[in-house]
Amino acid sequence: MKAKLRIQRHDEISEIDERLYGSFVEHLGRAVYDGIYEPTHPEADEKGFRNDVKELVRELNVPLVRYPGGNFVSGYKWEDGVGPIGNRPRKLDLAWRTIETNEVGIHEFARWAEEVGTEVNMAVNLGTRGIQEAMELLEYCNFPGGTYWSELRKQHGTEKPFSFKTWCLGNEMDGPWQIGHKTAEEYGRLAAETAKAMKLVDDSIELVVCGSSGSKMPTFREWEETVLIHTYDYVDYLSLHCYYGNPDNDLEKYLAQSLDMDQFIKTVVGICDKVKDEKGSQKQMNLSFDEWNVWYHSNDQDNAMEPWQIAPPLLEDMYNFEDALLVGCLLITLLKNADRVKIACLAQLVNVIAPIMTEKNGTTWKQTIFYPFMQVSNYGRGKVLAADIESETYSTEQFEKVPYLESIATFNEKENELVLFAVNRSQDEAIAFRFEPEGFVLEAIIEETALEGFDVKSVNSAKEQPVNVVNIDRAVLEKDSVTTTLSPLSWNVIRIK
Ligand code: AHR
Repeated sequence: MKAKLRIQRHDEISEIDERLYGSFVEHLGRAVYDGIYEPTHPEADEKGFRNDVKELVRELNVPLVRYPGGNFVSGYKWEDGVGPIGNRPRKLDLAWRTIETNEVGIHEFARWAEEVGTEVNMAVNLGTRGIQEAMELLEYCNFPGGTYWSELRKQHGTEKPFSFKTWCLGNEMDGPWQIGHKTAEEYGRLAAETAKAMKLVDDSIELVVCGSSGSKMPTFREWEETVLIHTYDYVDYLSLHCYYGNPDNDLEKYLAQSLDMDQFIKTVVGICDKVKDEKGSQKQMNLSFDEWNVWYHSNDQDNAMEPWQIAPPLLEDMYNFEDALLVGCLLITLLKNADRVKIACLAQLVNVIAPIMTEKNGTTWKQTIFYPFMQVSNYGRGKVLAADIESETYSTEQFEKVPYLESIATFNEKENELVLFAVNRSQDEAIAFRFEPEGFVLEAIIEETALEGFDVKSVNSAKEQPVNVVNIDRAVLEKDSVTTTLSPLSWNVIRIK
């Protein structure tokens, strides 16, 4: 079959906020302990953090990492994780029913973040705690000195403020599973008052208020509207979360899930703009899609997990080739909505529903989803251009028209690099693909790669990593176009200068 993507140099959707390629490290399972931190590992630095893991995180080029949760934050006392490590208490983590040793806290994580070249997106506990503790935490982290909390930070070894810029006002407060779950009315009021107080402490911060923990939540829409009515003037972003899976083993339906993400974003944008109108506000509410990924492979294993262990292997989804294709489609969808989605976090980064896996006292390895994320994060910088796509479609129960071709192009003016990302959703037909960029002088193809030709259930593991991108050389550059063949079920990247 044939398909086409047309773009025009001056028809841009938006500048891309680099925080679109954020990720997430929660105190959960083996994300922190036996993940980024394993003091007895031969690759551990003097503080106990694995250098080999840092290397892979740098390869992903993640500009922002959300921390310390997730559900975990709703029962967390941040004070337990500061001061001499030997004095830190062991506590029950009720979110994941494990034991938290508190060996890693704000100072250790901030140092790690600096080393991997990322910003911390900090979260405050609005489950079991409130305004006072949020103010104190912010003062501890961001206030220069001369006050009780800022001096305590210095005593604990960090002279300069951490200056964390982006802060989450709790996590998934709409979810009945959340410790300290609240109604929209209760959360909206608390979030507004916390936001006001936090901005009095430091008016340079940006705040993310919780939207729904998924578009299938019974309170979705009403939650967003109520929360925004209370918080619109005080916060900067509204959050969205979504996780997808293929439990029915229906590939057409599975690969169409990025349309669900698109619909979710558009619905939330509509609610933000409605509240803006009602308030007569001049401010545009942007979105933080601060949890997204595939998550379903590990559910049975997690349900059978013994409670009260330290760093048990929780949420260790083993991703296959079809998951990587969906992740590619989801990344393209985030780019298509980059005018409103300014922050997004692949949930998560290491071991827990993660692109990077570690073996205790052993190697690191890359899951299948590592590749599309790494490529979009590294090459999808600059501007995203409006995509005019011609493609045949198929239908699913949920969507009447799912294009076989999912595609987007970005332009990095600084590097003078035009980058095309494309997924062929067809299981049996290659796409004879034509890319028509208007207003560019095309000189050469820098690189063409594909993730293609695997069984959809192929996975990588510590032993072998067969699923990997390969360089190909199919693209033909003409004066005003690039043509190539997109293999059935493939993720493709073409970099052009
Ligand atoms: O990312 C795993 C969990 O998913 C997070 O802790 C929670 O916010 C969401 O339900």
